[in-house]
Amino acid sequence: MPPTVLILDFGAQYSQLIARRTRELGVYCEIVPYDVTWSALSLRRPAALILSGGPESTLAEGAPKMDPKIVEAGVPILGICYGMQLLARDIGAELVPLDQAEYGPATLVVGDRETPLFDGVPEESRVWMSHGDSVVALPDGYRALASTARCHVAAIGNAEKKIYGVQFHPEVVHTEHGRTVLDNFLHEIAALGRDWKMESFLDSSVRDVRERVGADKAICALSGGVDSAVAATLVARAIGEQLTCIFVDHGLLREKEAEEVVAAFREVLHLNVVAVDARERFLHKLAGIEDPEGKRLAIGHEFIAVFESEAEKIPGVKYLVQGTLYPDVIESKTPQSKTGQKIKSHHNVGGLPDEMNLTLIEPLRALFKDEVRELGAALGLPPAIVGRQPFPGPGLAVRIIGEVTDERLAIVREADAIVRAEIDSSKLDPHPWQYFAVLTPVKSVGVMGDGRTYANLVAIRAITSEDGMTADWARLPHALLERMSARIVNEVRGVNRVAYDITTKPPATVEWE
Ligand code: XMP
Repeated sequence: MPPTVLILDFGAQYSQLIARRTRELGVYCEIVPYDVTWSALSLRRPAALILSGGPESTLAEGAPKMDPKIVEAGVPILGICYGMQLLARDIGAELVPLDQAEYGPATLVVGDRETPLFDGVPEESRVWMSHGDSVVALPDGYRALASTARCHVAAIGNAEKKIYGVQFHPEVVHTEHGRTVLDNFLHEIAALGRDWKMESFLDSSVRDVRERVGADKAICALSGGVDSAVAATLVARAIGEQLTCIFVDHGLLREKEAEEVVAAFREVLHLNVVAVDARERFLHKLAGIEDPEGKRLAIGHEFIAVFESEAEKIPGVKYLVQGTLYPDVIESKTPQSKTGQKIKSHHNVGGLPDEMNLTLIEPLRALFKDEVRELGAALGLPPAIVGRQPFPGPGLAVRIIGEVTDERLAIVREADAIVRAEIDSSKLDPHPWQYFAVLTPVKSVGVMGDGRTYANLVAIRAITSEDGMTADWARLPHALLERMSARIVNEVRGVNRVAYDITTKPPATVEWE
């Protein structure tokens, strides 16, 4: 394992961003719950610690605290926002509530030009603040390093102990020299190298999985999406044939997808894949269900039933590989929950029953989506898998409004293939993030040849987004919209009208359901 920076998460919205910036600076890091004890932390032999911000005031009753042994441990520490205030409180500094909280931009004035923390940072620069309390007096050994107009102690440091704190947020882009501050802490103060890259993560993860699993067996559910593909390929590199991948074809995939996915996994990635044709079973379970949640539940239950019965055929399996990413790791370690790490069941797998008694292996749980794509490339996954659009676990069932039937699946699948082919070949800049067809429950009157038709309305959805959390509708060229519309009404039987969805998220969602 490379030297690791551990980030103690006090419930900040920016903890993930701190992790990301640290990795961008060539240092491997992981996020841990704030209430971890020093004896547990020390087993990880952290090279440095970063204390995140948090939504609370350290002055509030019941505010999250950390093990006091951490400050005494001799490890370089950087406290950010709440993290700095906590540090200040633990070292015996005086804190007071500000008359008026300070949110947003402020001008940081560096008062101590000697400190390595602000090497290369100009005397005045713009920073991003978000706090309601302020440090006013420091104990011996600590110095105030910088200030803003409202906050007289906006950075603190003890050079001998290598303990520092900043009231502003160095991890956000609005802080002009934030990257330099983090760089100084990691490389000058904690003297870490810049040796972390995706390949080193890959090597160490492969070693870890090999050590953990030993001679035991593992299984993995492949969805065709990038996360499970990368997780499975990584684990297969570690334990080879001891890993069996199960691909459940629920019949809700896009055109030719099942065949392509299975072929790519077997022939290109040489994974040991059991492909289960469960199309009839799923269709049967979905018959008569119109409600979106009802469909999701039926699919989730059926998936578990199929997966379980396949897994039972492989004797002695001890581990379950899941492609859980950092953003999937919710409820974790927030001060409110006080429960330490808790994992959301991966929504594509739907949460496997405890009776299966399998231990989870989640090699991607510290990474973000784009880092997973990078890791996939390092593993040699083909661009068709690494660059895949997000596709919901319940598949086309969420793109058919109302009942899922064979006939309606055929309509949405054909229309979707046209939308994808036309947009893919248009080489748009920027390329939409996600695009697909939706089969609505609306029928309307049309005229084809000399005859009246009464047929289905298909909607096209194409969005720009960074993470799917918010989205804008893509401003597609009219000629492209025209081609897609003409092809859909001409080539897809049962469709006589096409609409383009021009709604943002919020208030709409990406999928129609
Ligand atoms: P919504 O519709 O919630 O979608 O705005 C946001 C993003 O999430 C995808 N999505 C899913 N992905 N399993 C997944 O893996 C699901 O059940 C699921 N539902 C929605 C959606 O395609 C979009 O990218």
